[in-house]
Amino acid sequence: MILAPSILTVDFLRLGEIIEIINRSEADWLHLDVMDGVFVPNLSFGFPILKQVAKIAAKPMDAHLMIVEPQKFITQFRDLGVRFLSVHYEACTHLHGVVLKIKEAGMGAGVVLNPHTPVEVLTDIIDELDYVLIMSVNPGFGGQRFIPRTVDKVKRLKAMIDQRKLQTLIEVDGGINLETGKQMIDAGADILVAGNSIFKTSNPIEMMRKMKEL
Ligand code: DX5
Ligand code: ZN
Repeated sequence: MILAPSILTVDFLRLGEIIEIINRSEADWLHLDVMDGVFVPNLSFGFPILKQVAKIAAKPMDAHLMIVEPQKFITQFRDLGVRFLSVHYEACTHLHGVVLKIKEAGMGAGVVLNPHTPVEVLTDIIDELDYVLIMSVNPGFGGQRFIPRTVDKVKRLKAMIDQRKLQTLIEVDGGINLETGKQMIDAGADILVAGNSIFKTSNPIEMMRKMKEL
């Protein structure tokens, strides 16, 4: 199981300190949520901040792009040192081309599905993907409530992956805590993203340790 803490809702005045906490935790990746105020109704952070994060991040960076026209920025994310880059199915008219560009740039390629998008839309692209990110909340904000129906999506996606004997990983993001994380792992998820359930507790290191035990 891969744990990818999200820094979206941390206190940005303490960002350096929080990256250091993640560096010495049992977390595997560092999840970075990039928003443009167009694809989602919120803005997060862009390259000036990500550059500073990249300087001190010890864990592989996993960037989740909630932006339109993500193809414009693929090489910039690669140059920043991002190892895993995911784009939304709903944001890409030419998804296949975007995925190939991410892989040609040397990064792991992921496709993200909003809660209403069925996993079956991936039938003709799943073979190309290193991972699929199933949103378990509507993207845009941290701290939202988990949508239970998404557990079934993970099960259906896992069945599709196994049936084709693929190595594609399943990442889940939104409202993940010890309870919902367990449900998602049992359904077939490989990567858990968690923001508030880690950083709104008094001991994030301990919470990450507990999540790794799921
Ligand atoms: C939401 C982001 C998430 C967010 C998760 O659009 O994609 O990564 O940080 O936050 P929690 O874990 O608090 O739901
Ligand atoms: Zn995310």
